[in-house]
Amino acid sequence: MKGNDEAPAQPRPLPATRHDRPEDRLALHGGAPVRRTPWPTYDKGAVFVHPEDEEAACRAVRSHLYFRYDHRPQHETECGRFEDELCRFFGTRHALAVSSGTAALALAIMAARVPPGSLVACPGFTFVATPSAIVMAGCRPFLVEVDQDLRMDIDDLRRRWDPRIGAILVVHMRGFAADAEALARFATEMGVPLIEDAVPALGAELNGRKLGTFGAAGAFSTQSDKALNCGEGGFLVTDDRELFARAVALSGAYEGRLRRHFPDGEPPLTGLDLPLLSLRMDEIRAALLRAELTRLPERLRLFHRNYGYVAAALADLPGIAIRQPVAPGAYLGEAFVFRVPSGDAGWFARALCREGVDARNIGADDDLNVRAFWNWRFVYDTDDLDEIRAMLPRTAGYLREAVDVPLSSNLTLDDCDDLVRAVRKVAAAAPAEHPVTAAPAPAGSAEPVRR
Ligand SMILES: Cc1ncc(COP(=O)(O)O)c(C=O)c1O
Repeated sequence: MKGNDEAPAQPRPLPATRHDRPEDRLALHGGAPVRRTPWPTYDKGAVFVHPEDEEAACRAVRSHLYFRYDHRPQHETECGRFEDELCRFFGTRHALAVSSGTAALALAIMAARVPPGSLVACPGFTFVATPSAIVMAGCRPFLVEVDQDLRMDIDDLRRRWDPRIGAILVVHMRGFAADAEALARFATEMGVPLIEDAVPALGAELNGRKLGTFGAAGAFSTQSDKALNCGEGGFLVTDDRELFARAVALSGAYEGRLRRHFPDGEPPLTGLDLPLLSLRMDEIRAALLRAELTRLPERLRLFHRNYGYVAAALADLPGIAIRQPVAPGAYLGEAFVFRVPSGDAGWFARALCREGVDARNIGADDDLNVRAFWNWRFVYDTDDLDEIRAMLPRTAGYLREAVDVPLSSNLTLDDCDDLVRAVRKVAAAAPAEHPVTAAPAPAGSAEPVRR
């Protein structure tokens, strides 16, 4: 097996896959699988943690100083240092470490002064945490269609704009940049803040600018399978001094502790008119994250290398539609998501799993995938799944066609070759097994029912 640091990422010639040879019989039908070792995913423990990261966390444990707001000045705490380092990494004025990505999102909405009860627009393809954070902030999700590349569809948002929308919450889902530049312009035009759920895209860039820095605030998670991982946790970044002060106060900086975040002057508010929600980060996790942050650029390079390698090797494959980035390289590369527009994506994903590659059909009926909007039952007035799917017919169609393969940064190029072989093998067999199915319903064929 080749090591992670092996470059270059040019596609290598692979043996042709023909389904008339015994070795090309699908594992689903008793053939030999492409690989027999487990597909590396973060969930199974293949995280990017090194001994020096463990040492940093142990140092924090041994210090017995676990609370970020003890007697030490801000710049001597792990949390304070982590926030300074985040500001340098993202090029923002402010950063706040908090208890989760969901907390960072909810804080961003509240701190941006979105009035409680407002609608907050978010895409129909995201993790359930996005609409949950909107609810946590006292607002209501307003779901928007995604386009064929599974990005928030700005034309749909414009078409169905509702004056009760108080913010746009864009998501860079599965690491792919949404068109954050266009959305930032649109948000300005409509007079509402743009907030970025950049949780799935930590470190990825769009046209040389880090995702999470295009709107009023960007939210990130440091939970288990993120580019920085301490089990739980998150942070937000912003250039807005007042938004930052409100987020700090809401997160739990009481009795003057807000001042520690403004070493160059007085904070713009006392925080006494805000509730204290206790969504702080602790010193042990911050120490671990600081150590991981030093190797983040290398991890980002590996994500990019692997994704670019796989996408290039499968670009010519008929029958699958690979997501196209909004600008060259505008993705993290933590997942390989493609659609099977005229086949059966559920069957395709099952066949890939049997070949030894983790794969999931996002819109499968038999899977309670919380990235599919119809599984966010708390959002709707109805339990009728057909009625819910009809609210975003194009998104429902695209998610039914979508296959999701995790691309851990610890994949080697040999692992990537296995993925390419498996997708080619399954695609070669697909037309015979699954002739063309019905196309998705056209956009706007049903009136949306939203709370
Ligand atoms: C798109 C998205 N937003 C928000 C979150 C929430 O992050 P956390 O689990 O840290 O609350 C996640 C978690 O995976 C996510 O995928």
